[in-house]
Amino acid sequence: MKICVIGAGSSYTPELVEGVLAAPLPIEEVWLADLPEGRERVEVIARLARRMAKRAGKAVRFVPTEDRLRAIEGAAFVLNQFRVGLLRMRSLDERLPLRHGVVGQETTGPGGFANAMRTIPVVRQIAEEVALHAQDAWLLNFTNPAGLVTQALVDLGHRRAVGLCNIPRITERMVVAGAGVPPDAVRISAFGLNHLTGTHVFVDGQDATAMVLASGAAEAELRKSAPDARLPEGFFPSLGFFPNPYLNYFFFPQATYRHALEDALSPEGTRAQRVQAIEAALFAHYRQEDLDEKPPELSQRGGAFYSEVAVNTMVALSSDTPCELVLNIENHGAIPELPDEAVVERNALVDRMGVRPVSCEEPMPRVLGAIVQAVKEYEFLTVQAALEGSRRKAREALLAHPLVPGAEAAEGLLADLAAVNAEFWPVLR
Ligand code: G6P
Repeated sequence: MKICVIGAGSSYTPELVEGVLAAPLPIEEVWLADLPEGRERVEVIARLARRMAKRAGKAVRFVPTEDRLRAIEGAAFVLNQFRVGLLRMRSLDERLPLRHGVVGQETTGPGGFANAMRTIPVVRQIAEEVALHAQDAWLLNFTNPAGLVTQALVDLGHRRAVGLCNIPRITERMVVAGAGVPPDAVRISAFGLNHLTGTHVFVDGQDATAMVLASGAAEAELRKSAPDARLPEGFFPSLGFFPNPYLNYFFFPQATYRHALEDALSPEGTRAQRVQAIEAALFAHYRQEDLDEKPPELSQRGGAFYSEVAVNTMVALSSDTPCELVLNIENHGAIPELPDEAVVERNALVDRMGVRPVSCEEPMPRVLGAIVQAVKEYEFLTVQAALEGSRRKAREALLAHPLVPGAEAAEGLLADLAAVNAEFWPVLR
């Protein structure tokens, strides 16, 4: 089995390598593709991967390359984890919206919009290459904003594509810790969009959401993005679902904005600058010829367990026995409040035959539904703006976004974001 990783120069890759080496799959080759700018990093990672394989006693071949077509050719799985414009552009996604009084973030709000507009044209090209050179491959997309990018793939007619995120996995682990029960006893049911889900928790088949929320297990985590929010007493338990941490941008827009502004003005800078510092330290480790495992410092990145998600999905898609996973997939009625063609983050039954969304057990809570429906319309408009190069749709996308306060802000944001993204965005007419 051949696997192709696009954007393999990411500092995350050793985690994926660890997962691949432990996977119950007949993986023979992992092609590590990146652009010429990433050459040195990919080579460093390939050498580390070979040392990790030796330590694990596995005969997997790791092939660094700048030739994306060769990397894709004949692959069983193509994994997108690239970042268009690298952390330099993420930093602008995080900073520029602040000038308009809106939070800056790489997936949420106008920053996520700018990121999507950079990413969709590239992902379109990759999907065409996969359709031509690896017809049977599944395209697994981690590239952010992962749900929106998967919507673009589905709208373009690529049916063997799923979007992946580590947060459902983290949620499951948090729930297991919070409920104090064995992992096997827990089933989570997620509903919504990527980075905008609610989750219900079942322990031994019984709804245990209220109990887990009341335990406060996840509250510290949920407070991270809005540390100074003056939360009403019992806010999280009263929701009745376990909120994705990114919902804080919608529940506490002022506190998350203040927090983002403080970061931007601090010497350490926004998350992009912090990640740059973490990456410099990580690559110094990766270059050490005696290192043959994933260093613990990698846990400073936010993508914990992403390799588990990737490997579980590849294993499920190769298996005859269906397995339930939370994925970004076409809705097909699983969440009745959203259109069939919407890409949603939802439980799905996955096996060799493909991916089938599981119908929700109960209606989506209205407070979540209101946000999710508005953001889904924003996502549809963003995909159209990127694919058609439509300025009108781009403006409408921002105007439809619940975090953008009106037409003037939408217009101003679009002008500023288009100016700094000229190198990457399609020409808007
Ligand atoms: C979480 C999100 C990912 C995101 C990551 C950021 O894992 O689910 O979508 O990419 O955090 O981590 P970073 O270390 O890049 O800030």
